[in-house]
Amino acid sequence: MTRVLLTGAGGQLGTDVVRVAATQSDIDFHAFGRADLDVTNGAAVLSKIEAVSPDVIIHAAAYTAVDDCETNQQLAYDINGAGTSNIVSGALNVGARVIYLSTDYVFDGTKPEPYSETDTPKPASVYGKSKLVGENAVAELGDKGLVVRTSWVCGAHGSNMVKTILRAAENHPMLTFVDDQIGKPTFTADLAVVLLTLSGRDDSGVMHVTNEGAVSWFEFCQDVLELAGLGRDRVQPCATDELQPPRPAPRPANSVLANTRFAGLGLSLLRHYREPLGEVVRDLTG
Ligand SMILES: NC(=O)c1ccc[n+]([C@@H]2O[C@H](COP(=O)([O-])OP(=O)(O)OC[C@H]3O[C@@H](n4cnc5c(N)ncnc54)[C@H](OP(=O)(O)O)[C@@H]3O)[C@@H](O)[C@H]2O)c1
Repeated sequence: MTRVLLTGAGGQLGTDVVRVAATQSDIDFHAFGRADLDVTNGAAVLSKIEAVSPDVIIHAAAYTAVDDCETNQQLAYDINGAGTSNIVSGALNVGARVIYLSTDYVFDGTKPEPYSETDTPKPASVYGKSKLVGENAVAELGDKGLVVRTSWVCGAHGSNMVKTILRAAENHPMLTFVDDQIGKPTFTADLAVVLLTLSGRDDSGVMHVTNEGAVSWFEFCQDVLELAGLGRDRVQPCATDELQPPRPAPRPANSVLANTRFAGLGLSLLRHYREPLGEVVRDLTG
């Protein structure tokens, strides 16, 4: 029996980790949303971790509003950086492993090929920089720290691009999405299963975990519209520098993460993103 503590239980990923953990009898699971465990409160984090005394902490809590991070820089570093250091301190006290969720935004997106775990991070946004501070804190745990980088996270809960597209399609006959930002959409239902599998293993360091298939946001929007029965032709492409007004946070043009290490574990790679996308679109429109 592995005792697992989850932070960020109320988020889009956290909600699916809670749902999947409930189906696994070999996990003693303790999930905390922000109201029960604010990661910026160092004393509360230490005492909660000590009380639960987990074998593994899945740290999914984060300040994820990428554009807002540009204006609320201190808050971004408090939650994503110092908050993660608090989790690391608590883990050290009880000898727990930490699995920390991180992001494609730790890269600036200028590499022409997919990013591998050995590429040096160079974040361009405050969000990416603050998540990298968290990564560095987890690295201090040595063989008890695992950074799982993922990208373009979508699920049935919380806010994400699938919902944004479906909502926009209700109000506008024609949508416009950028075709010069490419990434791998990743679905919480699949990622949650991997995180719980990893909680029963002893991997450390950095691992990229995404669904398969790389697309631009324009192509992703075409897929969402088609799967919702609305027609792929209701979206037109544009370039990032044509967006009006420009987005406050710079986005990586190439967000594609190579799942090199994960592929070597002997576990099945995650499905092509179109399959879970179809399930989420059905959930949201059915
Ligand atoms: N979304 C993406 O596209 C994406 C891509 C790559 C990596 N990730 C990473 O994946 C993880 C999960 O992301 P997600 O999409 O599930 O994000 P999410 O839906 O925004 O969930 C994050 C959760 O963290 C909570 N939180 C914020 N501040 C907190 C604090 N001080 N203490 C405790 N909890 C706090 C939030 O609560 P409130 O809602 O109350 O603020 C929210 O429930 C994050 O680490 C994120 O950086 C996400």
